[in-house]
Amino acid sequence: MPHPPTLIDDAAATDGWPRATVGVLFGRERQPSARRTYDRYGRSNRPHGARRLTQERCNAGKVRWLAAWTALALLMLVLHKLAWAPPDSLEDGLSALSELPGVKSAANAAHLLLGPFWVVCNVLTKDWGVYNFWLSALACLLASGVVLLVVRRAVSWRASKLRNHAGDSSEERISRRRFLVDSPLLGGAALLAAVGGHSAAIAPYSIRLRRYRVPIHDLPESFDGLRAIFIADTHLGPRVPAAYIRDVIATALSLKPDLALLGGDYVHAGTRYIKPAAAMFRPLVEAGVPVVGVLGNHDWYNSRGLVRTFLEKTGVHMVDNARVFLDAQSRRIVAQPPSSGICIAGVGDFLCDVVDADRALAGVPSGMPRVLLSHNPDVAELPTIAGRSGVGGGQRRIDLMLSGHTHGGQIGLPFIGPLYVPGNNGTKYAGGFVQGPAFPVIVSRGVGMSICPIRFCVPPELVEVKFTRA
Ligand SMILES: [Fe+2]
Repeated sequence: MPHPPTLIDDAAATDGWPRATVGVLFGRERQPSARRTYDRYGRSNRPHGARRLTQERCNAGKVRWLAAWTALALLMLVLHKLAWAPPDSLEDGLSALSELPGVKSAANAAHLLLGPFWVVCNVLTKDWGVYNFWLSALACLLASGVVLLVVRRAVSWRASKLRNHAGDSSEERISRRRFLVDSPLLGGAALLAAVGGHSAAIAPYSIRLRRYRVPIHDLPESFDGLRAIFIADTHLGPRVPAAYIRDVIATALSLKPDLALLGGDYVHAGTRYIKPAAAMFRPLVEAGVPVVGVLGNHDWYNSRGLVRTFLEKTGVHMVDNARVFLDAQSRRIVAQPPSSGICIAGVGDFLCDVVDADRALAGVPSGMPRVLLSHNPDVAELPTIAGRSGVGGGQRRIDLMLSGHTHGGQIGLPFIGPLYVPGNNGTKYAGGFVQGPAFPVIVSRGVGMSICPIRFCVPPELVEVKFTRA
């Protein structure tokens, strides 16, 4: 009695990507012995319906592939639209849908894949195109298609490699454990996806507190130990949810600061965020904490007039090319120089405004400590400031400058530091305490994010500065 024929046909095992196709794609020779075997009487063991079955499986694989492509593209499009152009709006300008937990985190992860498309779009049209529905749909289709193709080819390649390794005459099946664990390609892809997901969804919202102690000459005795909280680059908008900023403000308030200083970039994109962004600081004002701030470049991009108006309505003292004073007796903000206190001055944004330190510091008593707010730390290198300042050594005195803008570069590598820092001075003012040409600068790595949707090895931070008598 002849042995029943044994079908060893792995052409369909790649689930829609026949072995021959894989071989062509990756330059391997087709191995006919693996497609058909013969019994000892020389009869082919391939059933007549095998070819048709293979074709059906191939078609089913294509249908599944198209379904997965459509589903992934739709998911990305929905996340993008919810975060960047939500259809609904609450009274304060926020969107209930975009503020749902996880929406902006997931949208950030999607933007990791969409990023190259937006860059190309910006280069070609000078517009990022993120608010255009059809461009968004095209970006999502392209990004999801590329992702699925890469995954599909990686899986097919690995499956083919394992089958070849096992031998054509073997019926060894690829175990799931061997497939997943022994595949460095898939392991690397999984690691990359995990790191990307963490960098887009978790790391940007894991706030750190960074504390500095700064000795100041002529500091009033009652201000010895004065603690100021510095909050920069909150960037309320498509990347940063309101709940996160509220938590950051609550954390700042829990530190019971004597003073709150704001470094600009309160909104990221979209005028709808201006009103709620300004309202975020109301708890500080209502708690009686003096709040002083300057505008950042993103506030200019989104109608600076409105940002300033709503911040001042909230109770924030705006000092772009101006100054106020913290009275040592009352611990309140006053407009005129008190007999004892400190000056809190600010300059306009380096990129979008005039930097006028002369106007900001005009009439300030020479013996009074001065803290300067500048959204952009590059101001410290300006000859008009650095050339004439310095404690006791120049015509203008600045004891400390507080800045943001850089976000610490957002992406850094251990032992190497940030890969890119916006500005004119390389990584000098990326973050932390920096000695400028004429005065020290503390640069906050920021609370939120702007163009880049991730943070890697550069956590967001709140800055606390403790002033002591020098
Ligand atoms: Fe910023």
